[in-house]
Amino acid sequence: VVPGPLLGRHVVVTSGPTHEPIDPVRYIANRSSGAQGTAIAASLRDLGAKVSFITGPATVPPPDGVDVIRVETARQMRDAVEAALPADAAVMAAAVADWRVINAVDRKIKKDGSDNPPALEMTENPDILSWVSGLEQGRPALVVGFAAETHDVIENATAKRGRKGCDWIVANDVSPETGIMGGDENAVTLIRPDGVEAWPRMGKDAVARRLAEAIAGALE
Ligand code: C5P
Repeated sequence: VVPGPLLGRHVVVTSGPTHEPIDPVRYIANRSSGAQGTAIAASLRDLGAKVSFITGPATVPPPDGVDVIRVETARQMRDAVEAALPADAAVMAAAVADWRVINAVDRKIKKDGSDNPPALEMTENPDILSWVSGLEQGRPALVVGFAAETHDVIENATAKRGRKGCDWIVANDVSPETGIMGGDENAVTLIRPDGVEAWPRMGKDAVARRLAEAIAGALE
């Protein structure tokens, strides 16, 4: 084992989508693959960190050498983050569903022959990033959030940093013409309290390495 700059540090990473059940066989989901979160967890591990990798049902496999905690729903993800604390840093890369179905049922909903499809009633999910950023006791020293935007990326992401109370925001432009959503590359802007840094377009692995190095530098 090569001693890395994050040796002895614990980092919590959330990744992937969440699934919000409608009934035992149906759910609401989103298109997150978990690729960027997985790459970040691997890079943090490579720098020596102990990583708690809390993942929704992603399409890419989790990295080796991290503590994998599998969850389905946003509420399970929140509880898993709470159970994984304390941590030196938290990187919230998951695409958490904003809403869940409150009238979910534990038996399969059947077509009843009438013309009335079931009406889904939704309520807001807990915002895990805001919650962890606002912890009065046991807040990680560094909390990193993500912002996927299609326009006014820096302006929207800077506002999000303030609203959520996190330290850094990794902003990316997910306009369809960028091909970033679901692709292998990413073009991100790192927003920190002391400035904004636009990184050139590069592979998601390279973004992860650079972010892990920045995290190591901040925790030094
Ligand atoms: O508000 P929005 O979903 O755009 O914020 C994105 C950031 O917030 C990401 O870091 C995401 O992981 C986090 N988030 C969260 N819990 C939610 C919604 C978003 O942790 N319920």
